[in-house]
Amino acid sequence: MKHLVVLTGAGISAESGIATFRDKNGLWNQVDAMQLASVSGFRRNRALALEFYNARRAQLATVHPNHAHEVLAQLERDYRVSIITQNVDDLHERAGSTNVLHLHGELTKVTGMNNPNNPDCITTKPLTEPILLGDKAADGSQMRPFVVLFGEPVPQMTRAMQIVESADIMVIIGTSLVVYPAANLLNEVPWRAPRYVIDPNVVADADTLGFTHIAAKATEGIDQLVEQLNAL
Ligand code: APR
Repeated sequence: MKHLVVLTGAGISAESGIATFRDKNGLWNQVDAMQLASVSGFRRNRALALEFYNARRAQLATVHPNHAHEVLAQLERDYRVSIITQNVDDLHERAGSTNVLHLHGELTKVTGMNNPNNPDCITTKPLTEPILLGDKAADGSQMRPFVVLFGEPVPQMTRAMQIVESADIMVIIGTSLVVYPAANLLNEVPWRAPRYVIDPNVVADADTLGFTHIAAKATEGIDQLVEQLNAL
């Protein structure tokens, strides 16, 4: 089976009702990312940062995978599919994808402030249960969401690069590719791999690297992608 590698961003979850970050009504146009989603922000105002993530966790409990998530899961019948997502939602998994790498963490999990990547501290917590000041992780430090904050390293990056390097086909869905190091993954795509980007807007870096642009929303573009894959 050919290895189909898919890099996804907030755009694939937009039609499920989760706001993207940099579109006109995006999340980062509503709140100050640095204040809420950064290491300094968490240290400066834990309560506000926790409130921000508790709201995103609670919303995730109310939304569902969309057609794009579902088709990607179904493609596992015909391809070895590796999904690398920048999203912290679990919609790929809920749609049935079995091989998902989260570059920026997962809202369904929590960890500790002192050492967020300590495996002994990482555990799941029901999305409807808020993380409260005073809740402790296994190491005794304040519990926090298991997400990569601005200013923190991306531990899964090496693994992600290895996956992209072994792609027979590369697909990008719903990311502006403005956040690093995730955007560096484009440089690892094997030159011989057919490549596609599904996005209603032009994604500059993808264009310069020869990606076929399927100019559509994810739920429509995914069907056009399948047609193009079938013609390979
Ligand atoms: N279908 C497909 N793509 C869409 C849709 C849709 N319905 N709606 C918007 N898009 C596209 C936008 O055109 C844009 O290219 O999705 C992309 C969203 O870009 P961003 O909002 O920047 O989201 P993303 O690229 O995932 O952000 C990367 O930044 O803040 C950090 O950690 C955060 O993981 C996030 C990272």
